[in-house]
Amino acid sequence: MLEKINLPYALNALEPFYSKQTLEIHYQTLYSAYVDNTNKTEEKLKQARKNNDFENIKCLEKELSYQGSGAILHELFFENLGPVTQSGPSTKLMHQISKDFGTFGMFKSQFTASSKAVEASGWNLLVWVPKWKKLQILQCEKHQNLTLWGCKLLLVLDMWEHSYFLQYKANRAEYVNAFWNIVNWNAVNGRFEEVV
Ligand SMILES: [Fe+2]
Repeated sequence: MLEKINLPYALNALEPFYSKQTLEIHYQTLYSAYVDNTNKTEEKLKQARKNNDFENIKCLEKELSYQGSGAILHELFFENLGPVTQSGPSTKLMHQISKDFGTFGMFKSQFTASSKAVEASGWNLLVWVPKWKKLQILQCEKHQNLTLWGCKLLLVLDMWEHSYFLQYKANRAEYVNAFWNIVNWNAVNGRFEEVV
């Protein structure tokens, strides 16, 4: 059974860039639902195996992918945010960013443009592709569609309306610009160390 993660900071710790009210709804209600629904789906799969009844298997596995990916992405998102600090990419990550994107500024421009261009409900992701030994930026539709198989998630940005509408209304650009102030690069550096 999946356990919900604790937020590594207070609900008001990301203000003024990410409001307490938004974080409260996002973490306490929406994220919790993804964890609960993943657990419910796993329970249904267990029952299906027990009863040897796989009539709904397609629906259940689809639900596992959606709800489970929702839980995982939200955990990575909350962990790669943090109060404003002077943190930045480690020397190693910065070297890789320069190699794969040209400069940090170009990486930031692409990530920002890509975030703003996510269609409907989705995410923007900085990933490490082990097969190619390089960084890439990917958009993700819903929580689970569009990926490079085997890629490792380093930095994720929630582009669902629930993540910004309360504070930024339809101004996605303002939300993405604010995001750069509260990236916890220490978390991103740690993830990169784990997978590279
Ligand atoms: Fe979200």
